[in-house]
Amino acid sequence: MIVLHATTLQTVHLSSQTDFPAWRDAARRLATNDIPPADIVWNVGESDDLFADDASLPEVAPQVALNVPREFIDRAEAVICHSDPARFALLYRILVRLRADPNLLKIASDPDVMKLNEMEKAVRRDIHKMRAFVRFVEIGEGEDARYAAWFEPDHFIVERNAPFFVRRFTGMKWAILTPKGTAEWDGESLTIGPPASKADAPAADATEDLWLTYFTNIFNPARLKVKAMQAEMPKKYWKNLPEAALIPDLIRGADRAAREMIERMPTLPAPHHAKVQEKYWSAKEATAAPEAPAGSLDEARRQAEGCRRCPLWRDATQTVFGEGPHDARIVFVGEQPGDREDIAGKPFVGPAGKVFNDVLDEAGIDRRITYVTNAVKHFKFEPRGKRRIHFKPNVVEVLACRWWVEQELGLIQPDLAVALGATAALSLLGRAIPVTKLRGEVLTRDDGLRVFITIHPSFILRISERADAEAERTRFVEDMVAVRKLMAA
Ligand code: URA
Repeated sequence: MIVLHATTLQTVHLSSQTDFPAWRDAARRLATNDIPPADIVWNVGESDDLFADDASLPEVAPQVALNVPREFIDRAEAVICHSDPARFALLYRILVRLRADPNLLKIASDPDVMKLNEMEKAVRRDIHKMRAFVRFVEIGEGEDARYAAWFEPDHFIVERNAPFFVRRFTGMKWAILTPKGTAEWDGESLTIGPPASKADAPAADATEDLWLTYFTNIFNPARLKVKAMQAEMPKKYWKNLPEAALIPDLIRGADRAAREMIERMPTLPAPHHAKVQEKYWSAKEATAAPEAPAGSLDEARRQAEGCRRCPLWRDATQTVFGEGPHDARIVFVGEQPGDREDIAGKPFVGPAGKVFNDVLDEAGIDRRITYVTNAVKHFKFEPRGKRRIHFKPNVVEVLACRWWVEQELGLIQPDLAVALGATAALSLLGRAIPVTKLRGEVLTRDDGLRVFITIHPSFILRISERADAEAERTRFVEDMVAVRKLMAA
């Protein structure tokens, strides 16, 4: 005899395609009541499933532990933006399985994990593409100027991606219209709205013409290789890019000059960089310049994380604040974080940092008892192809960042500061000085702080003649020996 057990389906109604809080709440209730994945129907909006039980979901079962790794939550928040309707069930299935096997996510060959990885990658790629291919068209002029863009994402990424555009275009009023939702920024608040149709998007205008001219001048598909270009700029995006109308012609005739130009064109940041940047900013509030200095170094560091005192925060990955004991007797000041420091969030960890560490070692200074910082806390660079080329900060940027340097000095109260190069000297002294001439000298500031002047370690890295570089390095070691003696004095 076959016994049929009637199963009651549980229906979850999510208010939107990316309603993660509702998914999480429902998943918690269902999982703690051991409701199997197969018994759940996941709906967005009103239910039209005749077989679904519309009764409200069970309460979270008391005393049932549901420990979910943070990694899963972070990834689920991204995956919920995928357009596959099966994602809600997949996430729930993984959640249930994680209870039995907390290491499940590490099993790359597991079909559910594979699917999760695939969806997450697709969402991240879509986010990346939107950042690269959204083109604003100006509507209105002067005070009334507004910008609008039409974009067709594969996934429901508008809401997740909108804060990026707010940060990039804070001073503009703009709307991004997509068939998967809209984002509008009025200069003060962000509104996420329902899907739009292409007819809502503005028609081509002069801005687009300008863009066409620009593109004709710099684009060279011969260099890009059509396959590589399509991978980066898939054909489906072409129809919304004004410049794409030119692509077939450009593929036919490209010359060497244009080839060199395209090499200098900025490309997208490496996905890893974009990921670090996104993670950093999703946890930060932008801080307008605080009125009063911080009461402690930790507070100053926290405030500096959201600093917008100059425009360098826009492209940098994160603020790189100083590091070291808060009662250090010596403070080293460099110029600005480089590519590696920008990603790591720590000063002097890249190639110049290696020279610096080795030289300190040779001179008998333990870096761990020193405080190391930079005159400018954000990486300034120029994108060239896939590389980010260091760009010297200007006086305005250095002076804007003195707000932080002076707080570091004031809170640490060191006996000695070392200016590593001209930018550091400008920051520490408030005026430009000839570093090569004054190298090895100690200048005393009005507040009594002694400042030792020397070169920046990256100067040694830029010398191509080996013997010259070696000689310069020896001089730098001598400078550091002098610094050690001053520390002891
Ligand atoms: N150069 C600097 O001036 N600072 C760093 O942190 C790295 C390179």
